[in-house]
Amino acid sequence: MKALILSGGKGTRLRPLTHTGAKQLVPVVNKPILWYGIESIVAAGITDIGIILSPETGEEIKAKTGSGERFGAKITYILQENPDGLAHAVKIAQPFLKESPFVMYLGDNLIQDTLSEFLTQFQDKQLDSLILLRQVPDPTAFGVAKVAADGKVLGLVEKPKIPPSNLALVGVYFFSPAIHDAIARIQPSARGELEITDAIQTLIDHQKQVEACELTGWWLDTGKKDDLLEANRIILDECPLTACHGEVDDQSRITGRVKIGRGSKITNCTIRGPVIIGEDCHLDNCFIGPYSSISNRVSLVNADIEHSVVLESAKIVDIHQRIVDSVIGQRAQIKPAHPRPKALRLMVGDDSQIDLI
Ligand code: G1P
Repeated sequence: MKALILSGGKGTRLRPLTHTGAKQLVPVVNKPILWYGIESIVAAGITDIGIILSPETGEEIKAKTGSGERFGAKITYILQENPDGLAHAVKIAQPFLKESPFVMYLGDNLIQDTLSEFLTQFQDKQLDSLILLRQVPDPTAFGVAKVAADGKVLGLVEKPKIPPSNLALVGVYFFSPAIHDAIARIQPSARGELEITDAIQTLIDHQKQVEACELTGWWLDTGKKDDLLEANRIILDECPLTACHGEVDDQSRITGRVKIGRGSKITNCTIRGPVIIGEDCHLDNCFIGPYSSISNRVSLVNADIEHSVVLESAKIVDIHQRIVDSVIGQRAQIKPAHPRPKALRLMVGDDSQIDLI
């Protein structure tokens, strides 16, 4: 059994963060989203992993993620020159996948359920595909399935205007090598991509064994800001967070579950967990409220922040209004020109969003 993680794409829905970086490297609780997928695959006993990259962000993903050694896996990187669709990614990965069955994992998806039980079902029943489904309020943004009571998949449709059910296709799929023939038979969709949904429909049309499982735990497609904050909130609630490797002075008050990384200095701050603070951060005279993740080398001075994600090396100084529900990009700087600002002077990039509330 092998794994194929799709980590290409342009990440348009997370702009401006993804103008400069890969969406799969945006951190949730200070760990790139992509790494959760790798860990979950390795936990299911699969260690031969291919990762599809795009030319725009591939080098950054490779440099950060490495050979796979840190995960106990062997990673093979595969370049997809153009974003020609999920099924196209499988097609170009064929020399890596060979005749092996595999799990395909979309690198910006996070699921709570472990993969092992799905893998067992896929293998024991010798299926050609096992797909995972989740009920969602608005299925029009996803692939949507129609399923019989016994779990057999009757049909699939990609982003339908009138959905046949409220069961969305989660970005984790199990395939036998039969998927390659199915992909060879499909044509690009209206959006110009080879859709994996169409390839699975082709399996169904050829009487191959396709079944579905409904997820019981949460599923997050972290493609947008609010989904990212939600993923951060859920994972902060679940992970152990009670280590302090940094320096905290006597004036600071820390309550709840808080993790502070090596080399970080906390002076005269109130921190209310769940909160994670990375390494080599500098926090002086701040309030850090629940559900905040502060990445490595962030500097916060006279700042008040909660339910937010701050990326590496960002700097926030002398902002007296509380910053909430925010995602602050790498190396971003937020600081007033005067101690009591009367006006805002901004340089704001394309696709940014600033809500003054
Ligand atoms: C892709 C799939 C879709 C699936 C979704 C899950 O959509 O095409 O069927 O429901 O991932 O995240 P995309 O992210 O390409 O819009």
